[in-house]
Amino acid sequence: MPESAQLVNLQIPPRTTIVIFGASGDLTQRKLIPALYTLDVEGRLPERYAIIGVARSEFDDESFRAHLREGVVAHARLANQDAAAWEHFAGHLHYCQGAYDDPATYAALARQMAELDDACETCGNHLFYLATPPQLYPVIVAHLGAAGLNRKGANTNDGFVRIIIEKPFGHDLASARALNAQIHDVFDENQVYRIDHYLGKETVQNIMVFRFGNAIFEPVWNRNYVDHVQITVAEEVGVGQRAGYYDTAGVLRDVFQNHLLQLMTLIAIEPPAAFNAKFLRDEKVKVLQAVRPMRPEEVPLATARGQYRTYRDEPGVRPGSATATFAAVRLYVDNWRWQGVPFYLRSGKLLASKATEITVQFKGVPHKLFQESEASSPHANFITFCIQPEEGMHLRFETKVPGAGMRLRSVEMDFQFGEEFGQTALPEAYERLLLDALNGDASLFARADEIELSWQIIDPIQMAWDASNTDLSVAAGGWRTETAPALEFYEKGSWGPPGADRLLAQHGRHWRLTCHKK
Ligand code: BG6
Repeated sequence: MPESAQLVNLQIPPRTTIVIFGASGDLTQRKLIPALYTLDVEGRLPERYAIIGVARSEFDDESFRAHLREGVVAHARLANQDAAAWEHFAGHLHYCQGAYDDPATYAALARQMAELDDACETCGNHLFYLATPPQLYPVIVAHLGAAGLNRKGANTNDGFVRIIIEKPFGHDLASARALNAQIHDVFDENQVYRIDHYLGKETVQNIMVFRFGNAIFEPVWNRNYVDHVQITVAEEVGVGQRAGYYDTAGVLRDVFQNHLLQLMTLIAIEPPAAFNAKFLRDEKVKVLQAVRPMRPEEVPLATARGQYRTYRDEPGVRPGSATATFAAVRLYVDNWRWQGVPFYLRSGKLLASKATEITVQFKGVPHKLFQESEASSPHANFITFCIQPEEGMHLRFETKVPGAGMRLRSVEMDFQFGEEFGQTALPEAYERLLLDALNGDASLFARADEIELSWQIIDPIQMAWDASNTDLSVAAGGWRTETAPALEFYEKGSWGPPGADRLLAQHGRHWRLTCHKK
């Protein structure tokens, strides 16, 4: 290192450079840059930072900035700032054009990064973000390794090197294992941040505070008091422009393997000994290990699947596609706390409205004192976490209707984040997660073993469904095995196919929508 550079670096903090691969894509424009912009407005980014976008598209710095500005105006939480706020942020944005499989791209990138690091190649902090289609992850990772961009320098003052990897992380257990191995060839596990944006949502993190920051709920949080848990991730949108990806993925791979299992895990984990990445992820892993693997013969009764009626007309969907855009699944966590308590998970596209919520329903009272009539028979209590778009919590319990006699009615106690903390108080998930990765806190990112275990839960269901699709296509001979529930079509604006209701009705239960009253 030249002496002058050494002097510079003694006096000022090292620069942090965030390199986004897939910089011309949707995710960068709609989520990553708006999040970084808001962090900049709030003064939460490092004092000296730069963002380099890498992609194949033709941009120079100016046109790249103009393209990103549209995303900020449309999507940033704090978009209504004056022009100076944008100018300040835009000054940190740079573009590096190149093909992902060309070593020259990485050589150019390394030069650009070194210039930003004041000619001190390893003293800066480097955070890579893979926001490209997933088939490019191994290519980019291997090239980063070959260019030596995966390692920090030998000096103790040298900065960090980390990499954030977007979902989908593999498409089954085997591919996730292979991808983990390819990444571990180049990066150590503690450099790797596998992102699941659900963990960045404030309301999701609140599940942990609710459970482990209050003494009154934990004693009833187990098989003695909980009847069942239900988790809904309902979307109003269809597959949009993403049919190419979605048609080969389907709802289980797209949101169950990651978002739904993460939500379930946070409801089910034991309190970690301390709130740090290792202990928290160790506890999550224990839950995933305890999820009962679904046997093939259970799949027809323990799952439901659907496809919205117009799905096959979407551009990019294969003719006659059997891809499920809706699923409902019953899982069990075989441990002391949860033995025998069903966890019902459902998610679908083009449903009546956007609603992500978790309901923990408690058992009925052990002895019915007021049971002379329907009006005096108590209903089960439940707690609902409203994740989005409503953000809050509801506790449902029974009260006496005033007046003569003993009539009971269910009432709700509500808590709304917006009312309590103000409407703009909730940061976007990507703001939180980008900041955590910059600060080296991996608590809200998935570890390699967590990812593999969650595929282990999803694979048997997906395989059974896929097998039945094959059977259907050769069904001309009239032969078909019942490896899966029928693929049911559902209407836009509904709450999914009847199979989802049948799944709960088998045990006298029904789905609840508490946060969203539409
Ligand atoms: C993504 C899925 O991970 O999550 C999308 O790929 C889905 O298909 C999205 O629409 C849902 O995220 P959110 O934050 O809108 O609930």
